[in-house]
Amino acid sequence: MKRKHVLAVASVIGGAILVGCATYTTPTREETLQVVNSSFRDRGIAKLDRLKQSDTQIACSEAALTGKELPKDVSARLEKAALATVKYPADGAYLGDFKQGERIAQTGVGLQWSDTDKTVAGGNCYACHELTSQELAFGNIGPSLKGYGKLRGNSKEVVSYTWGKLWNSHAFNACSQMPRYGDANILTTAQLKDVMALLLDPNSPVNK
Ligand code: HEC
Repeated sequence: MKRKHVLAVASVIGGAILVGCATYTTPTREETLQVVNSSFRDRGIAKLDRLKQSDTQIACSEAALTGKELPKDVSARLEKAALATVKYPADGAYLGDFKQGERIAQTGVGLQWSDTDKTVAGGNCYACHELTSQELAFGNIGPSLKGYGKLRGNSKEVVSYTWGKLWNSHAFNACSQMPRYGDANILTTAQLKDVMALLLDPNSPVNK
């Protein structure tokens, strides 16, 4: 008896879902943005302007919606523009302190509504990357960076590529999911140097 009742309910729900599917139309970009915008509000330092997409983000979102890659000429143009935003260290020194770099890679503090504009932000690299062998808790959205400097060396090209990638990840992959640490003012130049040392200093635990 009870089972029959459950079945009846299930079939009503099934019917409702089918009817729902039959009348579904893909929302327009404006409708989607309206829903997204109305779901958030300003709170502390986290303001609604964060929802405003850059031209690159708009192009990448549109491409993702249609399940297509960006056309080659478009991604090349966006990457070139991103590369032009990179500010290289004026003193020509790229490597700071790898111990500080490890702290920055470990912490995800900063830029949240509960922080202030004085809070020193971290890089949260481990959320997406493996780095040292000692740290076993890491995400895998990004590739493993274990042995980064040992595998690639310290040539001028490697150093300036790595700096550029950290400053504005879109410079080498238009639709990168990696934060733009310099371009979006997440990390300071001094912090970026410490993270560079974590990746490239031969004595860094990343390269041991
Ligand atoms: C939200 C996830 C995410 C975070 C956080 C993140 N990355 Fe990445 N990173 C990626 C992804 C995904 C890639 C590979 C695809 C690409 O190029 O965007 C990548 C690529 C890289 C590369 C290039 C690797 C190569 O083989 O050339 C470096 C270097 C790098 N990340 C360093 C870092 C450092 C250092 C941090 C912290 C300061 C960091 N990433 C934080 C997602 C992330």
